[in-house]
Amino acid sequence: MEQTLILVKPDGVQRGLVGSIIKRFENRGLKLVGMKFILMTRELAELHYAVHEGKPFYESLVAYIISGPVVAMVWEGEAAIEAARSTMGTTNPVTASPGTIRGDFGMEIGRNLVHGSDSIENAKKEVNLFFAPGEIVAWRRETDSWIRE
Ligand code: RTP
Ligand code: MG
Repeated sequence: MEQTLILVKPDGVQRGLVGSIIKRFENRGLKLVGMKFILMTRELAELHYAVHEGKPFYESLVAYIISGPVVAMVWEGEAAIEAARSTMGTTNPVTASPGTIRGDFGMEIGRNLVHGSDSIENAKKEVNLFFAPGEIVAWRRETDSWIRE
């Protein structure tokens, strides 16, 4: 079963959208298996965004993600990575479809509310970066047979 790392970024926390954002993933049928509320260190931010190092937006991106607390979560499901990203909407909220998190709550690429892993390889790296193995909870969800065939 695929897992993906989702962050409610500092703007989502500051704007009181944590519950609304989590609800979107719950409604979709993804299963929550890990969650923590943290202030990311610069070191963690630099590791998390290492692929963007050298890009024009890199410095402001790191400053943004450490500017306040974030909610870090691991959501599980069949094709969880793609399902989560379609629920989030495109990177730039201006072009994100209404009905997506970014399309409903965002206005700018630099304040796009959520992060979601973009590949199986990156998801594994990111989950391991934010969570120790013992912090991921394996549990049986009673509604699973109504969400998955
Ligand atoms: P994320 O990693 O946060 O889920 O977003 P993403 O895959 O949709 O976008 P990505 O290309 O990985 O970019 C990471 C984050 O960097 C900021 N960004 N700013 N100013 C810009 O041109 C620009 N481009 C990207 C966004 O916060 C984006 O989510
Ligand atoms: Mg990305």
